[in-house]
Amino acid sequence: MFPRGRLAFFVTSNLHKFNEARQVFSEYKVATAMLKIKAVEIQDDNLENIAKASAIDAVKTCGLPIIVEDAGLFIEALNGFPGPYSSYVYRTIGTIGILKLMKNVDKRDAYFQSVVAFNSPEEAPKCFHGKAKGKISLEERGSLGFGFDPIFEPSGGGNRTFAEMTTNEKNEHSHRAGALRKFAKWYTSGSKRRF
Ligand code: IMP
Repeated sequence: MFPRGRLAFFVTSNLHKFNEARQVFSEYKVATAMLKIKAVEIQDDNLENIAKASAIDAVKTCGLPIIVEDAGLFIEALNGFPGPYSSYVYRTIGTIGILKLMKNVDKRDAYFQSVVAFNSPEEAPKCFHGKAKGKISLEERGSLGFGFDPIFEPSGGGNRTFAEMTTNEKNEHSHRAGALRKFAKWYTSGSKRRF
């Protein structure tokens, strides 16, 4: 029997995401385990649709209550690009490509969006959202974190990029931590626990 509301299986192969989640969940006394199973990642303009489809597919594979998370970087001067296509853009042009697209652009506002989708064999998927506003830096800075962390300065972060922050510091500002906290509150409250 699972300890209901006290253990969350996180379907991801990204150790950085898992460590961020582990620290957030410890605030709520929720333990977490990393499930490295392949879940489909559909192409869609909407992060929630992507996260839900992955969560449904993952439950089909493992038969367990799980969460998945999907995130994207939305740059205002580029009309929200790369958004839901962040993974592909990171793999192709990467952080340097984004900095080139932003060369001579003064308006550098951007935000990260995160959707955590919970799904179980008994329930329909439920989504939790988080957003981190900030700016695209003028150059890469920092060596921590992953993905676009070296070029994203969250608001209120003292002009540091996510890659210049420890996991705990990133969790004070990040989109993912925001979505995970909403999930953890829901998961640990009420009479109907999930595991
Ligand atoms: P994913 O599909 O949720 O893994 O995220 C899509 C892409 O966005 C990833 O390949 C990362 O490059 C980027 N990304 C997602 N979350 C973060 C983050 O917290 N920091 C930096 N980049 C991120």
